[in-house]
Amino acid sequence: MRSAFVPPRRPSDLVRYLIPSLLVAAFLFFYTSDIDFFSSRLATGSHPIDSLIRAAEKSFTDTLAKETFTLADAATAYRERRGRHPPPGFDAWHKFAAERNAIVVEDFWDQIYNDLEPFWGLKPARIRKDAWDFEMRISVRNGKATAESDWFWTQIWLHMIRTIEHLLPDMDLALNAMDEPRMVVPWEEMKDLMDLAEETRTMPDARGVISDWAKRPGLGRDVEPDEKTTDKAWEHTRPYWLIARRGCPNSSLTRHARTLRNFTRTPMIASPFSLSHMHHGFVANTTLAADFCNQPDLQALNGIFVEPLSVSATKVLFPMFGGSKLAVNNDILLPAPMYWSAEERFMGTEEDAAIRWEDKLDGVIWRGVATGGKNTAHNWRSFQRHRFVAMNNGSAVSMAEKEGRVENFVLPANGYELRAQENKQLGEWVEQWSDVRFVDLMCDTADGEKEGGCDYAERFFQVGWGMTMAEQFGYKYLPDIDGNSFSGRYLGFLRSTSLPIKATLWREWHDSRLTAWKHFVPMDNRYGDWYGIMEYFLGYEDKGGHDEIAKRIALGGREWAHRVLRREDMQIYVLRLLLEYARVSDDKREQMGWVEDLVE
Ligand SMILES: *[C@@H]1O[C@H](CO)[C@@H](O)[C@H](O)[C@H]1NC(C)=O
Ligand SMILES: *[C@@H]1O[C@H](CO)[C@@H](O)[C@H](O)[C@H]1NC(C)=O
Ligand SMILES: *[C@@H]1O[C@H](CO)[C@@H](O)[C@H](O)[C@H]1NC(C)=O
Ligand SMILES: *[C@@H]1O[C@H](CO)[C@@H](O)[C@H](O)[C@H]1NC(C)=O
Repeated sequence: MRSAFVPPRRPSDLVRYLIPSLLVAAFLFFYTSDIDFFSSRLATGSHPIDSLIRAAEKSFTDTLAKETFTLADAATAYRERRGRHPPPGFDAWHKFAAERNAIVVEDFWDQIYNDLEPFWGLKPARIRKDAWDFEMRISVRNGKATAESDWFWTQIWLHMIRTIEHLLPDMDLALNAMDEPRMVVPWEEMKDLMDLAEETRTMPDARGVISDWAKRPGLGRDVEPDEKTTDKAWEHTRPYWLIARRGCPNSSLTRHARTLRNFTRTPMIASPFSLSHMHHGFVANTTLAADFCNQPDLQALNGIFVEPLSVSATKVLFPMFGGSKLAVNNDILLPAPMYWSAEERFMGTEEDAAIRWEDKLDGVIWRGVATGGKNTAHNWRSFQRHRFVAMNNGSAVSMAEKEGRVENFVLPANGYELRAQENKQLGEWVEQWSDVRFVDLMCDTADGEKEGGCDYAERFFQVGWGMTMAEQFGYKYLPDIDGNSFSGRYLGFLRSTSLPIKATLWREWHDSRLTAWKHFVPMDNRYGDWYGIMEYFLGYEDKGGHDEIAKRIALGGREWAHRVLRREDMQIYVLRLLLEYARVSDDKREQMGWVEDLVE
């Protein structure tokens, strides 16, 4: 990533380049000189995290103020936010939600509309055919959900959908059985689809609105005999970055950055590309932080872009459901299977999760497998978990400080003003509070054979004992780091009395329900803010910590997760999603809706 930019070719591109380039140049100047971009912090005397927390409180209060309590108010909020009538069945959905004491804030369902909107640009018969003709699917007919596949994810999702099947019209759902998301429609095509979708956004006169669902042929019968299944032309291109980047706007930095193919050397980590989502060195906007379209350096900083376990992608938009996705993927999100099945491995028990803050150890715990994709002697320096583990290894950090030797991370920018770093004691300090280890280095090939041994990883990482969730809940701070895709432990962390510190590139069903710095602590995907976050909470010598604030966010996240991330909330989310999905797949979709509140 030494030079992320290719020279602009046409004069019109110059303008597009000039501004980001100047920003980057300005940043680099301040970053490398000692007058840095954190300086206003000195002037005000308050820590930037204090103002991020204040902003989070306000944003959360504003969100809560939008809560509605009646069906009519919920329908009004729906029309204002979506520009359409609610879907047929909205009254039954609202009753279902109210009976389960759900908090109804229309924004909580934003992800559904981000995911489904482009489908308003496709012909409904094509949506129905492609869903029906996919090898892994769940079908609903006459209020009964079934699946032929016994793949465990399918079975968990089926179990979830069966709890609401009596409220669902006929439909077919194609499911993604892989960890990795599958669809990246090129940005240019997506733009056209969104333009077509926009044209359908109307609110027809209530008297002409239809609220009956169309039936579909019985199980096993072709839903659209006259429609051809779209050829998905599955691609297996690597690096996945080449596929992912086509989902970015044509003016974005990622579309213009050179593609890296050699990951042998230490990647460039301290980067100006984080500027737009940071406030004085700490994450201020988690949506932007996960959006790599203007962060081309991330192609060398996460396994998904370097060497995912599997790649099977398509440019063709069709309704495929999955548990998580990158900012550019077009998959439709369901709550991930492990969240619904709530296995103890991912969640721990309620008793463990409820340990009193005061009874916890004042430090950080992380145990995990070296996932992220297939790591090798040539690419491991670009894997996110390897980076995080090394940054928490006191001897590795000391070597970096004292001998300037680093393999896969960088020491934090001066702007963080870390007292331990000023004393050249960063390694010793980290050693005091951090216990972060791999439990498996995963340097085997797929067939279990070690490819050239594991020496490259064993030189830098010592494997430790595994730890149950119960043991992990004995610590105050729980970092959460992406694996092959999102980390399945996040919900368990949120529901506990410990504080999750989260860096991610992945989107999930619940994103619009959570407020960073109120319910969890966000971290940049480069982890350059990690020590700064920990110094803020733990303090260092005469620099006081903020244990009370850590406790407040930990308990705030737990309480909120118990109100809006319950299994009931997943059911309510999926019911809303599937009603919308059924409507967008219906030939009469533009005339369909629930309008009983508007007619006498
Ligand atoms: C980017 O896309 C827009 C809209 O499709 C188009 O007008 C513009 O020419 C494109 N710019 C470049 C540099 O390709
Ligand atoms: C990658 O780069 C390293 C060092 O920069 C070099 O030794 C190696 O040959 C390169 N690998 C490939 C496959 O080009
Ligand atoms: C984050 O950035 C996006 C894109 O610029 C913006 O729409 C959104 O409102 C921002 N969110 C917050 C919490 O500032
Ligand atoms: C810490 O780093 C050193 C030097 O790279 C390495 O030998 C050691 O195994 C590492 N420890 C752990 C727990 O990974």
